Amino acid sequence: MPIRDRVRFILDGEVVELTGLDPTRTVLQFLREDRGLVGTKEGCAEGDCGACTVVVVAPDARGDALTVRAVNACIQFLATLDGKELITVESLAGPGGDLHPVQQAMLEEHGSQCGFCTPGFVMSLFALFKNEAAPGRVDIDIALQGNLCRCTGYRPIIAAAGRMYELGDTGDWLTAPAADSTVDRERLARLRALSDDQDIVIGDGVRTFMAPASSASLARLLAEHPGATLLAGGTDVGLWVTKAHRTLDPVIYLGRVGELSAIVADDDAVEFGAGVTLTDAVPVLLEKFPALEELFLRWASPPIRNAATLAGNIANGSPIGDSMPVLMALGTELVLRSAEGVRTLPLEDYYVDYGVTARRDGEFIERVRVPLPADGTVVRSYKISKRFDQDISALCLGACLALHDGVARDVRLAWGGMAATIRRAARAEAALEGRPLDDAAVDAAMRALREDLEPISDLRASGAYRLRVAQNLLKRLQLDVAGEPSDSLYAHGRAH
Ligand code: FAD
Ligand code: FES
Ligand code: FES
Repeated sequence: MPIRDRVRFILDGEVVELTGLDPTRTVLQFLREDRGLVGTKEGCAEGDCGACTVVVVAPDARGDALTVRAVNACIQFLATLDGKELITVESLAGPGGDLHPVQQAMLEEHGSQCGFCTPGFVMSLFALFKNEAAPGRVDIDIALQGNLCRCTGYRPIIAAAGRMYELGDTGDWLTAPAADSTVDRERLARLRALSDDQDIVIGDGVRTFMAPASSASLARLLAEHPGATLLAGGTDVGLWVTKAHRTLDPVIYLGRVGELSAIVADDDAVEFGAGVTLTDAVPVLLEKFPALEELFLRWASPPIRNAATLAGNIANGSPIGDSMPVLMALGTELVLRSAEGVRTLPLEDYYVDYGVTARRDGEFIERVRVPLPADGTVVRSYKISKRFDQDISALCLGACLALHDGVARDVRLAWGGMAATIRRAARAEAALEGRPLDDAAVDAAMRALREDLEPISDLRASGAYRLRVAQNLLKRLQLDVAGEPSDSLYAHGRAH
C-alpha cells in the first residue's frame, strides 16, 4: 500500500499541504503561531471554556453529504484535519469585510464585552446556524454548553442566536442558514478529492503520526508499534499533551479508517465502530433508550461530543466515564482486533484495575456491541456532578432490569465513581432480584450496597457522600420506574 507523507486540508478556500509535522501540534497552535490567525483564542487548553472553538466540515460517513461541526482547536491535533475543511472566526466575514449574520447579530444584541470569549461563541453559533433552521431555546442552550463568558452574561448572546436568522443571507454557503449540505456539491467534491486510501505516515524527524486508511493497516501498524498511542477524538489524549505535557510517539490516528465509522443495527444489537462520535452515536442510543437523554445532554458539550468517540470513552477506562455504567448494565461487548484476529469480550471483563484493562499489545477496540433488551426492560442512568452542564461525574449509576408483573428480574446495576473501575454491585442486584421493586426490596439493596462498594474521597466528593447518594439513586430508580412525577432537572430555569 503506498504511503502519503503529508496531510491536506482546506482553509479559507485554499488547500493547505503540510509535511514534516509534529504529531501532537494542535490546530490552535497552527492557527495562532503558524498562520497569525489569532481570532481563535486559548483560554483553558483543555476543552472546557470554548474560546478556541472552530468549525470542521467533512464528508459524512456515507460520503454523500457534509457535516458541519464545532470542535475545540486547543486539543485537536493538526494532522487529524486531513481531508477536511477548517473554518475559523476569520473565515466568516465577507470579502468586503461585511460581518457574517452571526457576527452582526452578536454586535446588534450587545453579545460581547471584553471579547475574549466572543470568537468561540460566534463559532458555536455558526455551527448551530448551519445545522438548525429554527432552533428553540433548549437547542440554543445546548449549542452553547461548551462556551463560557465571564463578563457579558448569556442573555444577549442567546438573543443573538435568535437574531442571526433574520440577517442577510448573501447567497453563499457560509451565510445560508441550515443549508441542505448536499446543495454544496462543489464543496463536497473538493473535500472528496482530498481523500484517498493511502496510509499517512508523517513526522518531524523525531516523532511520527500515522493515519491508516483501513482496519487491516491499523492492525498491522499497531503490531509494528505496540507502544503507540491510539488517537480517536483526542478529547482525553489531547489533554495528556496540553496539560500533562507528555511526549507521545508514535501516534496512530483512527479517524481515517472508514470501516470504523459504521453504525450497524439488527434486531438483537446495535454496533458502533470505534470511530463513531458521541454526536452520531447518541441519537441511535436515544432511539432505543429514550430515558438516557439527560445523561447524554450532560455529557460534556457539543464540541467535545463532536470529537469524542464511544470507544474512546470505554478504552480510556476512567472510573468516572459516563457511558460505561449503562453500557455495562446493558451487557455490552467489545470486539477487539489485532493482526492476529478478532475476539469478543464483555465490557465488564475489560476493566482489570485502575488504569489497567484487558486489552493486549497490538489490539484495538474495533466495535462496541450494545445488546437490545426485550421490550419493557427498564434502562436508566443517573449522573451526579457538581455542575449540571459540562462537568465530570462524582458518581453515575447505570441500571437495567426486566419487570414481570411488577417483579424485578435480570437486575444489573453498574456504578461509576464508586471504585477503581466501573463495576457492578452483586449484592445490591441480588437484593432486588425476583422481588417487587418496593420499599422493602430497595431498602435491602441500599443496605447491600455498603457491602458492594467502598468509594474513595477525592476533590469531587467524599466517600461517605458517594455511598449515601448511590443508595439514594436506588430510591430514585424505584420512584422513576413507578412513574412518580419528577421534573427533569434539565427543564429547570429553561424556557422550552
Ligand atoms: P481519545 O482521547 O482519542 O482516546 C482516549 C483513550 O482511549 C486513549 O487511551 C486512547 O489511546 C484510547 N483509544 C481510543 N480509541 C481506541 C480504540 N478504538 N481502541 C483502543 N484504545 C483506544 N467523559 C465522560 O465520560 N463524560 C463527560 O461528561 C466528559 N466531559 C468531558 C469534558 C471535557 C472538556 C473533556 C476534555 C473531556 C470530557 N470527557 C468526558 C472525557 C472524554 O471526552 C471521553 O472519555 C471521550 O469519550 C474520549 O473519546 P476520544 O475519542 O476523544 O478518545
Ligand atoms: Fe478552552 Fe480550548 S482553550 S476549550
Ligand atoms: Fe468577556 Fe465573554 S465578553 S469573557
